Amino acid sequence: MAKEKILVTSALPYANGPIHLGHLSGAYLPADIYVRYKRLNDDDVIYICGSDEHGVPITISADKEKVSPQVIIDRYHEANKKAFERFGMSFDNYSRTSLPIHHETAKEFFLEFYNRGLLVEKKSFQFYDEKANMFLPDRYVEGTCPKCGNEEARSDECENCGALYDPSELKNPKSKISGGAPTLKETTHFYFPLGKYQPALEKYVDEMNNKYGWKDNVLQYCRGWFKDGLKERAITRDLDWGIKVPVDSAAGKVIYVWFEAVLGYISSTKELSQQKNQPEFWKKYWQDPKTKYIAFIGKDNIVFHTIIFPAILMAWNESGKEQYCLPQNVPANEFLNFEGKKFSKSRGWGIDVDEFLDLFAPDLLRYTLAANLPETRDTDFYWKEFQLRNNSELADILGNFINRTFTFVFKHFDGKVPMLGKLEKIDEDMLKEISEYPKRISDLFEKYKIRDGVNEIMNLARDGNKYFNDTEPWKTVKSDKEKCGTTLNICLQAIYTLAELFSPVLPFSTEKLFKMLNAKPVEWKESGKPQLKEGHQLKKTEILFPKIEDEKIEAQINKLPKSELEKEKTELISYDDFMKIQLNVAEVIEAEKVKKSKKLLRLKVKLDNEERQVIAGIAESYEPEDLVGKKVVIVANLQPAKLMSLESKGMILAVETEDGGLQILNVSEKVKNGTRVK
Ligand code: MF3
Ligand code: ZN
Repeated sequence: MAKEKILVTSALPYANGPIHLGHLSGAYLPADIYVRYKRLNDDDVIYICGSDEHGVPITISADKEKVSPQVIIDRYHEANKKAFERFGMSFDNYSRTSLPIHHETAKEFFLEFYNRGLLVEKKSFQFYDEKANMFLPDRYVEGTCPKCGNEEARSDECENCGALYDPSELKNPKSKISGGAPTLKETTHFYFPLGKYQPALEKYVDEMNNKYGWKDNVLQYCRGWFKDGLKERAITRDLDWGIKVPVDSAAGKVIYVWFEAVLGYISSTKELSQQKNQPEFWKKYWQDPKTKYIAFIGKDNIVFHTIIFPAILMAWNESGKEQYCLPQNVPANEFLNFEGKKFSKSRGWGIDVDEFLDLFAPDLLRYTLAANLPETRDTDFYWKEFQLRNNSELADILGNFINRTFTFVFKHFDGKVPMLGKLEKIDEDMLKEISEYPKRISDLFEKYKIRDGVNEIMNLARDGNKYFNDTEPWKTVKSDKEKCGTTLNICLQAIYTLAELFSPVLPFSTEKLFKMLNAKPVEWKESGKPQLKEGHQLKKTEILFPKIEDEKIEAQINKLPKSELEKEKTELISYDDFMKIQLNVAEVIEAEKVKKSKKLLRLKVKLDNEERQVIAGIAESYEPEDLVGKKVVIVANLQPAKLMSLESKGMILAVETEDGGLQILNVSEKVKNGTRVK
């Protein structure tokens, strides 16, 4: 396959606080794995990121600490850049949006639209703090929700009941700056006519999806926006932190952070060009229609990358000047939670990357996060799972396979790759298996199924251990040394392949592993072929993945804030509460489909000496005749309900299976009808 020219970006994190594991799982680790894989694929790839240093999130952090925004961005830009490095992120450039090159780029886009008359100037009313003499961004105003009475509602949105309203409807508005009541004051802003681009955007999303397969979550999100209809959006703000609007009449206004932050990808690439002393370098990526541009983000950024950014680029491209590439794919991830709850800095829930890496090696974290990426749904980081992934996968499967092979080769073959002798079926099968892995993994990575890919690589180490066990080299070393050599030769080839395939995921450990193999990576697709020649000298072994002791994990769990754990306790129910639910065994004596319903079955069940009708939503998983005679568990004291005008008295317990089907809980036939379940 011809080399591809690939531009990869990860969302620019706000430089207003330390990054945590959730960030890594969302937009960074998957992109880094993808990029490292592409580099091994010999594609021409650059990976761009940087700090987002404007906007209200920055000024809020600055106000809280009573320092200037500059102090905040300097601190966290440096901190995050370092944390990313420690974690092994391989950005080609990590820039910042406060740099002049970015301000120029953003102004260039703004002026292009302004001069062409594309932007609409409009008046609106906004909260104003008379004491502080400033307009208040949404997040600076708090009040009572007009719908539910929540006293901590935002200016136009209530997090408690989800209501959206006009700021003028908010009751008792309070400025978070001065504490006083803000007034509504008229102001003027520039609006970008997003609606004008709706047809082109819909076409773009469809086309990209048809050609390259966008993720369902991303598509659904876009379609939702299209359905509601795109409206013009203000792209200026009354704020004094940010990029000044380059128009005289707009003194005191800055460009809306989202409008300029996305352009930060371009300016970061420009900065890379300067560093390389090749001023035109960035154009080779941004302005070549052959570029495959992939934007990795978390789900809260979807609209900005699939609608707003593409619209900005389309609007630019209309100028007839240089043509920019639009994202070809936007593989947005869902969120990672921490021990069952959202990360929360203020509640002390979660762990910063730096803190983590002071305790454990980066590859351990990379592996655990990668094997559990929130690609299709939210996932969790659990300390116990982290320990388990390390001890029973990295150490017991991968580490063990490497270790036993190396130890054996050093003990019996002087640390040299033994000869590949006569092959038996089991050897041929193993070689074939090894050879198929690179393609199998790249097929997944190409579809941004990073999690599946990573879990699949571990299967090669499992295969390796099984092959080692089945060929019993500890026996053949005495009975048939050539045969033993063949086994170890093949194990070493598998280890080589593992080193290569795992290198995007575990860059630090595989670097050591390649040193032990005394070899270098090859092109990805070659890595499944035997690469180590007979007689090749290996280097001394080291333990790549030591076990993590229970105490070390317990110590972390014990550090979780007690106040949060208390909350958990109050959510527990008492024994008495539980006993209020009456669960009984019942036998299904009749079952039939409910007419005009795909999901419902009408069942008659027999308890002790009572029969009742239960309507159950299991028709997609069971045929009525399969159920008759079965013993199930029902919630017997559930309030009766009507479904499709049929009365239902009770509910059958069932579990959802992985494919979304339902499986009812069965009880052995020996149990008497009506028996209480407790
Ligand atoms: N700073 C934003 C966030 O953390 C992401 C910005 S992505 C960009 O959610 F493309 F706009 F830079
Ligand atoms: Zn409310």
